[in-house]
Formats: sequence, structure tokens, C-alpha cells
Amino acid sequence: MAFVACLLIPCFVVASGVVQSCRTPDDFIGVSSPGDIVIGGLFAVHGKMVSSGPGTPQRPEIPYCAGFELQGFLQSMCMIYAVESINNSTLLQGIKLGFEIYDTCAEVTVALAAAMRFLSKFNTSENFVEFRCNYTDYIPRVKAVVGGSYSEETMAISRLLNLDLIPLVSHSASAEILSNKIRFPSFLRTIPNDSFQTKAMAQLIHGFGWNWIGILATDDDYGRLALESFGNQAMAFNVCIAFREILPSHLSDSTINTKINQVLKIIVRESRVNVIVAFLKPYLVIKLFEKALVRKIQRTWIASDSWSASSRVSSILNFNKIGNVIGFTFKNGNASAFLNFLTNLGKKQFRNSKLLKQYAAILRDCSEDIDLNQCIANYSKESWMYNTSTDNQTLRTDFLGDIVQPGFVHSTYLAVSAIAYAIRNLCKDRNCKDPNAFAPWELLQALKKVTFIDEGRRIKFNSTGDINIGYNVLVWKQTQNGVLNITTVAEYNLQSEEFLFVDEKEEEYFYDFQEIQSKCSDECQPGQMKKTSTSPHTCCYDCVICPENHYTNETDMGYCLLCDNITHWSPANSSECYRKAVDYFDWDDGLAIVLVILSGIGIFFILITCIIFTKHLNTPVVKASGGLLCHIILLSLFFSFLSTGFFIGKPEDFKCKTRQMMFGISFTICVSCILLKSLKILLAFSFDPQLQDFLKCLYKPFTMVFTCTGIQVIICAFWLVFRAPYVVENLTISKMIILECEEGSIIAFGVMLGYIAILAFVCFIFAFKGRKLPENYNEAKFITFGMLIYFIVWITFIPVYVTTFGKFLPAVEVIVILISNYGILVCTFFPKCYVILYKQESNTKSAFLKMIYNYSSKSVSSHTISQMSMESRITEHRSSITDCCCRSSINCVSDSYFYFQKPEQRFTSVQGPLSSSAQLLQRKRTSSI
Ligand SMILES: *[C@@H]1O[C@H](CO)[C@@H](O)[C@H](O)[C@H]1NC(C)=O
Ligand SMILES: *[C@@H]1O[C@H](CO)[C@@H](O)[C@H](O)[C@H]1NC(C)=O
Ligand SMILES: *[C@@H]1O[C@H](CO)[C@@H](O)[C@H](O)[C@H]1NC(C)=O
Ligand SMILES: *[C@@H]1O[C@H](CO)[C@@H](O)[C@H](O)[C@H]1NC(C)=O
Ligand SMILES: *[C@@H]1O[C@H](CO)[C@@H](O)[C@H](O)[C@H]1NC(C)=O
Ligand SMILES: *[C@@H]1O[C@H](CO)[C@@H](O)[C@H](O)[C@H]1NC(C)=O
Repeated sequence: MAFVACLLIPCFVVASGVVQSCRTPDDFIGVSSPGDIVIGGLFAVHGKMVSSGPGTPQRPEIPYCAGFELQGFLQSMCMIYAVESINNSTLLQGIKLGFEIYDTCAEVTVALAAAMRFLSKFNTSENFVEFRCNYTDYIPRVKAVVGGSYSEETMAISRLLNLDLIPLVSHSASAEILSNKIRFPSFLRTIPNDSFQTKAMAQLIHGFGWNWIGILATDDDYGRLALESFGNQAMAFNVCIAFREILPSHLSDSTINTKINQVLKIIVRESRVNVIVAFLKPYLVIKLFEKALVRKIQRTWIASDSWSASSRVSSILNFNKIGNVIGFTFKNGNASAFLNFLTNLGKKQFRNSKLLKQYAAILRDCSEDIDLNQCIANYSKESWMYNTSTDNQTLRTDFLGDIVQPGFVHSTYLAVSAIAYAIRNLCKDRNCKDPNAFAPWELLQALKKVTFIDEGRRIKFNSTGDINIGYNVLVWKQTQNGVLNITTVAEYNLQSEEFLFVDEKEEEYFYDFQEIQSKCSDECQPGQMKKTSTSPHTCCYDCVICPENHYTNETDMGYCLLCDNITHWSPANSSECYRKAVDYFDWDDGLAIVLVILSGIGIFFILITCIIFTKHLNTPVVKASGGLLCHIILLSLFFSFLSTGFFIGKPEDFKCKTRQMMFGISFTICVSCILLKSLKILLAFSFDPQLQDFLKCLYKPFTMVFTCTGIQVIICAFWLVFRAPYVVENLTISKMIILECEEGSIIAFGVMLGYIAILAFVCFIFAFKGRKLPENYNEAKFITFGMLIYFIVWITFIPVYVTTFGKFLPAVEVIVILISNYGILVCTFFPKCYVILYKQESNTKSAFLKMIYNYSSKSVSSHTISQMSMESRITEHRSSITDCCCRSSINCVSDSYFYFQKPEQRFTSVQGPLSSSAQLLQRKRTSSI
């Protein structure tokens, strides 16, 4: 095929003395091989473009390329290898695949030139693209294209190839947008789109606990789209981006140095950013790292697939000084067959192709160099200056094995295989030796449906034209001898979204990166929560401690969790909730012990008193104070003391019910007995006839005590039946659960106490009236005093009881009960005991009589009239009492009255007018006895 005119493809300017030239479009071909079906290839064998003059291009010339990229070269070799091995196999049954590979120089313009060539009409002498409305029958130069290397150029080519729906199968263009089948209907690729890579990166960054990172991207479609995609993924993983910077994509851009310096300034300024994600072309990375090394900037770099395994980058830098590099690359297959193919490169029929000639030229220039890889990476000659003179130089390929990126080898191989399988399916029922057998759009349809097995994996384009093979995670390691070793440490599985480590050693090595910190704020400890400060980033925050009853059990939590308030509590700044301790007024409490001892002493006194009283039952003192009535009082006091025991210890329903009732009833018995006593006294010394009549009828000891107590029993019964006390867990206190008795009905409780109070008040009134009665004989003063104590104590009790809460509530009541019990015990019984034990001389009938006599005479002498009338009342009264009271039951009462008799007698003997009646009474009395 010889084309005479450069109709479409502008030719390279032929520099004199230099072999390379572009006189015809065929000079533009990198390497080609004829076949029945020809597929195109587009690879960035050179990494950058050199414009013919400064600034923007002035003339329409295809620019020169520079920066030989071994990776691109290897990818194009891989395509050759794939085509050759398919031709060697029986896959296509005699149909021979041919190829035509161009170098795009990573440049859209150059790539478009090549794409136009692909579009030109097949087998015409004119090298032109025909204009048509309907390209259905149009047969272009190639049936399919493999490439391009970069997303930006790929997008441009794909749009051009859409015209004829020529399938474009890329091995490395990963931009997410290319999955859009409306914009890029003829585009397919053998790698996943970037959304998976950015997701995997964000996941990795999040996994290491980094949340304050920077992003650098090349100013092209790939960079900008990756930036956007990564931004979204980072947000989903709560990773914040401190800065996102875009570097010019063309080295010829004059602002590039300024821009890189700016970026480095930002990196230095953002000192908390230790991790930087870079979606950069390799040459930009090199430029950046060179400047970073000068400034001694060390960071952890996350490399995108575009440079993660770039030997150009890794060969030139003193990598240990730049920090760490973690990279992502496409999952690879077995590259050993390809490496074997490479060793024979020099002997192939392509020996005279442009690509191999350029490679040979560089090798020749570098032959002196020890580090061939380094030399090639630094090789700065522009493509037109290459010395491509043909000689018999053997091509060295031994060093290529180390720098092959198996990921790209694999994806390139897959791209060619997919096309071959699709051709096979298409050619089942047609003669594909004929170049017009099918049009590219038919191949595209076949490609979309193709499935085949590669190394045990089923390969199939999904509906968006991607193949979801996973990623490899690479780590750049410095080996002992200073050589950089790019090691695959893990695979990222797209389906499970997991990192699967190659082995444990690598996993350990990998997790060492966790020690690197890249956070906007130091993490909040458990017990604290994040409070976003003024910064718009959620990753920058202050830590505040959780309030009481709240906790955080993990670091960096955004909010405090509430403890289960009913059963748990926590102090401020807590990382856990504690079970509330169950507490109650227990026996081992100091106060409880004191109270129990006091109760015990009370009971002891009761026993002593009881013994003393029983022993001296017939002495005047005992008789005067009621005799057996005292025993009833003592018994009720005993129960009252006993009831305090129910206030202590773990509350139970039974105890709650018992304690109030026991106290209420026994204390009512006690008070009603005392009431009886004071009534008796009042009766004895009350001289208002009406009142006396009333009192007389009231004075029915058994009925009275029984009635008074009965009412209390009824109150308690109602209480028990309708709103009985029960145990509750008091949860209002923050740290513990207090077991306590809920009184059920506070009204019933009040009525019970109120009832006792009423009795006590009546008692007090009666006793108060009789407070001036004779000394030994008179208890009124003491009863008054006892009741006063009772009132004071219970009146104090109410506010204290209402305001006290917690476990000492029962203690308050116990204290009140004890004081009122002691009040009665001390006031009513101790003076008697004292007299019985120590004043035996006054505990005789005669002493009593003498005393009453003294009292009487004194009173009479001072208030003769009234006293006289009093005396008469006494006698009258006494007679009526003896008349109307049940004798047996009130023996003690009549006994006490017995002592009135003598003074009366004496009285009467002194005061004539009264004597007769007194004597009459005396008679009656003796007869009744
Ligand atoms: C294809 O077959 C030829 C001849 O047998 C052999 O030299 C070549 O290495 C084979 N190529 C591949 C890629 O297997
Ligand atoms: C385009 O050409 C094909 C084959 O020549 C024909 O079948 C098809 O109808 C044409 N389409 C239009 C829109 O004319
Ligand atoms: C095809 O794969 C791409 C990833 O490469 C994914 O984003 C897309 O959702 C997949 N499409 C379908 C229909 O599964
Ligand atoms: C290259 O070397 C081969 C033998 O290795 C020889 O046959 C051939 O003539 C040589 N070609 C040139 C151009 O030197
Ligand atoms: C790189 O590391 C891998 C695994 O750690 C090892 O197998 C390989 O030999 C190393 N290569 C070089 C060149 O050190
Ligand atoms: C923290 O507490 C929550 C809620 O109780 C629980 O689900 C979670 O497992 C706890 N986390 C840790 C690390 O204990």
C-alpha cells in the first residue's frame, strides 16, 4: 500500500540528516502486520508532546513526541503478542488477524490523526474518509481498535469512531464517564471504571483511619473525572479533602512550574495532611517529586493506576525520601508467556517497524549506561532526533521483565482476545477472508455479547461495556540493596469490596501504615464526642465530654449514646454504662445499727418496766397509774418498737404492708390507753356536772380502747384492701436503684397518722386539764409532756419526710417512732419506776394519803369554796363511777379511787357538812368490797 498524497495526515517535517521522517501516512504507523481482518492499536509509546515553537501551535503540523514510555511500548508489544498467539491458535480457523499500531504520544491531536486513518475507506488508493449519511455499508480500514492509553485521548477517539460504530476496546482508559453508552456507544474496555478504584481508595484511606487528605489531579478529563468520583466516594466514607489541586496536563504549559510550587506550598501549609491521592500522569509525578525532594517533603502517596507501577517514576526518585507509595493497578494474569515473547523481540519480522527502530535507537544511546531503565526514563531526545539507522544490533529485553506492569499486559491481551472471540462468533456463517464480510458495527454487536474464559475466569462486558476484574494493591518497597521493589500486597475484589492479602507477611507490612496519621483533629477518646467546630469540614472538630448518663464506647463518635436510664447510669466522660446498684436501708448501715440498738434498748426497758410493774402490781404507784392498763401500754409499745424492724432491710411487699399497720395499730392502742388514763384523771378532778356526765359515760375502758383501736384497724384495713403499700424501685436517683416502700395511698397514711394525732391531741387536752393534780399520784403532767414530744416529733416529721428521699426515708420514720415511743416510755413509766425502786417510802398507802391530804388542805385553804365543791364532786363522781362502771374490768380505777377515800374521810371529819356523805360512801365502798 503506497499512498502518494498526504491528504489527511500531515507529515512530519523532515529534518535533514535524521532518518526519521513522515513523507507518507504509512510513515506514521508504529508497527503493522497484514491480515484478513485488520485491527487498529493506539498506544502512548511517548509520554509527551513537544510543540514546534513556544506557546500554542502556529501551524497545522503533527507535533513531535518525546519521553519514551516503556510501559506504552510494552503495551503495544503485548498487542502484537496477543494477535500472534491468536493467529497461532485454532481460534479463528485460518482467518489471519492483522494489526496497525500507532503511537499517540499521549496526545489527543496525534490520537485523532490515527483515528482518522482508521476511519478512512478500506482498500482505496485514496487515503480519505468518505462523507455519507448512512455508514451501514461502509467498510473502513480497520474493523476494531484497541486503545487508547489515557481517558482523555480515548474520549476524543471514541467520539470520532462513533461515526462508523467501530468498536474501541481500551485496555487502560478508566474514566467513569466512558461507561455512558449514550455518549460512547462503541466504547468497551477490559478494566473496571474508575468509580471502583476511587471507591477502593476511599475505603483504604478510611480503613487506615485517615480523614484529612489532599488530592492532586492532571488537568484532563481523566484527572477531573477521577477527582469528582473520588470526592464522592470520600464523602461516603467520611473522608474529608483538605485540598484538591489540578496540575496542567501539558509539560509545555508555561505555568507548570508555578503551579507545582503552589501545590507544594499548600502541601507544606496543610501540615496535618499526610496522605495525598494523586491521579497524575507519570511525568507530572516525576516533576512534582523532584521539587518535593528539594523541599524535603515526605508524605504517603496513594497512586492511581496511571502511575502506580510506572517504572519511569520509580526509577528516578529517591523514593524513601518522598515517603510511602501505595498504588492501585488492574488485576493481572500470568505474564510469563509475554515475557518469553519479549526475549525474541529482536528477531521478529517487525524489526524494521518504527516502534522497534525507536526502541533500538534508545537502547543504542543507552548502551553505555549501567541502569538501562533509568537511562530510558531520562532519555530526553525528541522523536525526530532518534538515530534509527538500521544495523544488526541485538535488542536487549532482559531488563523489561522487571518493569512490565502485568495489569496492563493482561488487559491488553483481554482486549485483543475479546475482539478475536467476537470475530469467531461473527464468522461462523460467513467467509471472513473477504474483507467486506462484515462491517464494524456488526462486530460491535458481537463484542457486546461475547463471553470467553480467560485463566479460569469468565470474561464478559457488562451492559455499560466494562469488565469487572478487580484491582491489585501495590506497595513501593525499598529493598536492602536500595532497589525499589513494587510489590503486590493485596487484591481488591469488586464484588465483595474487600482487600484480600497475598500472604500474612504482606498484610502485616500493609497494616503498618496505620501508624501514619492524617487527621484534621486528634481523635476523640471513648467518653467524648465530636463537636464540629467552625470549620466546614466534618472531619475537623473539637472533642467534648459526654454528660452524665451518656457514653461513647468507640473513638471519634459523633454523638453520645444514652444509657438505659432505668437500669444503668454513667458519670460524665464515661465510655460505658454501669448497672445501677440496688440500694436500700439495710441492716449493716451505721444508722440502722444505731436505730436497732435504740429499739433494743427500748424493748429492754419495756421488759424491765414490765417486770418491775408486775412485781409491784399492788403498790399504790402501780395501781394509781392503771395497773394492768400499764401492761397493755407496755405491750403496745413493745410492738411499736418491734415495728421499726420492718423499716430496715430489703423492702418486701409483706414488710411494707406490715410496718405501717403494726406501728399504727400498736401506737393507737398505746395512745388510747393513755387517753383512758387522762380521761380518768380528768374524770376524777372535773367538777362541771355536764362535762362529768359526758365523761362518765365515755369512761368505758374496754369499749373505749377497743373502739379507738377498732377505728384504726378499719382505716388500716381499707388501706390494705384498696391501696396497699408495695415495694417500688425508685429510679430517680442517677447512680442507683433504691428499693423502697410506696405507701400506696398517701391519704390513708395521713389518715392513719392523723387519727393517732387526734387521739393524742384529745389525750393532751385531758392531761393538760389535769396537770395540776397531786404529785405522786398525778400522771397528767407526764402525759402532757409525752404527748408534746409526740406532737413535736411528728410535726417535724412531715416536712422532713416530704423532703427526704432515697434510702434514708424509712430511717426518718423509724427515728420519729423511736422518739415518740421513748417519749411515752420515759414520761409515763420511768418516774414510776424511780418511785417504785428508789422512793419506796412514798410508794405506800400512807404516803399517798398524806400527799393527797396535803394537796387537798392546801387547795382548800386557798380556795375554800371551790375546793369544797370539788370534794363533793369527787365523792359524787366516785359513787357514780362505782355505779356505772364494770367493776371487774376497772378494778384499778376503783382502786385508785380508794385513795380518795381517806382524805375525804379526813376532809369530812374536818369539814363537818361533807362527812356524812363521805361516810356513806365509805360504807358503800367497804360493803362493795
Ligand atoms: C506462533 O508460532 C510461531 C511459529 O510456530 C512461533 O515462532 C511463535 O513464537 C508463536 N507465537 C506465539 C505468540 O505463540
Ligand atoms: C442504511 O443503509 C442500509 C444498507 O444499505 C439500509 O438497510 C438502511 O435502511 C439504511 N438506513 C437508512 C436510515 O436509510
Ligand atoms: C458495569 O460495570 C461498571 C464498573 O466497571 C459498573 O459501574 C456498572 O454498574 C456495571 N453495569 C451493570 C449493569 O452492572
Ligand atoms: C545482520 O546479521 C546477520 C547474521 O547475524 C547477517 O546475515 C546480515 O547480513 C546482517 N545484516 C546487516 C545489515 O548487517
Ligand atoms: C520484590 O519483592 C518480592 C516479594 O517481596 C520478591 O519476591 C522479589 O524477588 C523482589 N524483587 C526484587 C527485585 O527485589
Ligand atoms: C458500643 O455500644 C453499642 C451499643 O451498645 C454496641 O452496639 C457496640 O458494639 C459497642 N461497641 C464496642 C466497641 O463495644
